[in-house]
Amino acid sequence: PYTTLFRSIGPGMSRSLARSLVVAEPLIPFPVERVQQTLITWYRRHRRDLPWRRTNDPYRIWLSEVMLQQTRVDTAIAYYERFVRRFPNLEALAAAPVEEVLKLWEGLGYYRRARNFHAAAREVCEHYGGVVPDDPAVFGRLPGVGPYTLGAVLSIAFGRALPAVDGNVMRVVSRLTGFAEPIDKAAGRKYIEAVAERLVLQSAPGDWNQAMMELGALVCKPRQPSCEACPVAGWCVANQNGNAEALPLKGESAPVQEVDRAVAVLYSQGRVWLQKRPPEGLLAGLWDFPAVEAPWGTWNLPGEREKALLEGLREYGVRRPRILTMLGETTHTFSHVRWRMTVYLCTGEAAPQEGTCWAGRAELERLTLPKAVQRIVALLESAGIWSSGAQR
Ligand code: ADE
Repeated sequence: PYTTLFRSIGPGMSRSLARSLVVAEPLIPFPVERVQQTLITWYRRHRRDLPWRRTNDPYRIWLSEVMLQQTRVDTAIAYYERFVRRFPNLEALAAAPVEEVLKLWEGLGYYRRARNFHAAAREVCEHYGGVVPDDPAVFGRLPGVGPYTLGAVLSIAFGRALPAVDGNVMRVVSRLTGFAEPIDKAAGRKYIEAVAERLVLQSAPGDWNQAMMELGALVCKPRQPSCEACPVAGWCVANQNGNAEALPLKGESAPVQEVDRAVAVLYSQGRVWLQKRPPEGLLAGLWDFPAVEAPWGTWNLPGEREKALLEGLREYGVRRPRILTMLGETTHTFSHVRWRMTVYLCTGEAAPQEGTCWAGRAELERLTLPKAVQRIVALLESAGIWSSGAQR
């Protein structure tokens, strides 16, 4: 009975058909119950033993989902363990200064997540007696809680029948249904979300959502999926069409913006000068070296970059700035921006002011430095600037 649908829904499905599929009850080209039973059985046999799967504590499950949104499982484990050791419950987290939370997050990136999670912990302690609310309308209003976190936490911690659609699940659903439309366009997204919602196993939504994620992580991988090991391959339209790896389709993603970034390491008596970044935007509120930026290609002439840096330093309140030498080059790529950094060793007089500090080598270790900034510190290390009579 599914053959016709396999064809209509396979590669080359028209845009209008994709739109017509966006209905309350989405067309699903496989037997839902059998896929549910098969996948949940597979999950219970094959699931990885992960620290957040050994607890029912909503706080810990929430923490894990916040970390796992932009971080791979392998990386997240050590951070998770450290975090719960330091902050075993919401009260402990809420009582801590945000700097300490950020320090534990150092290297994970997307620091906004940590700030939001900390703010949410404070809100839960203040307004809900420290008990994580299981009402979607309440939980969904906490800082940083979007549809994914909402579905993941409430299904895993409280058994609420909500879908949790992350990248893994988008990929699994688009392959299972053979959905050959871009999933990052509204119509495509809607169809995938409608299917994901329909698929949630009502009797075990938390396990179900994790089963979908687990299949995506271990079997239905972005590249070279292991269809031969897939428990539901027999119902998978993409597998039948032999094009699993080609799905999901994506529209053209925004190109990475290449940024020319001149960085000043202002050095004086074993210490370097740091500034806090603005409270909004990339790496908001984190420590950074003073720097100036322009789109790559702006500073083409000899000396232009250096001149811009010296002007920038004066604007930051540095008196008599001077460039001693170029220490090296390094790059760091964020989701849509690449910093191509040229790092200069400089001197100058910088008066202490709010949001700046002079830090020695040991202090640098205590501050929360994002990866991009750590790359600059690594350049200082290899240039040996601390060894020339540096003090701690
Ligand atoms: N990715 C997001 N949530 C996850 C979970 N609970 N287990 C494994 N991977 C995940």
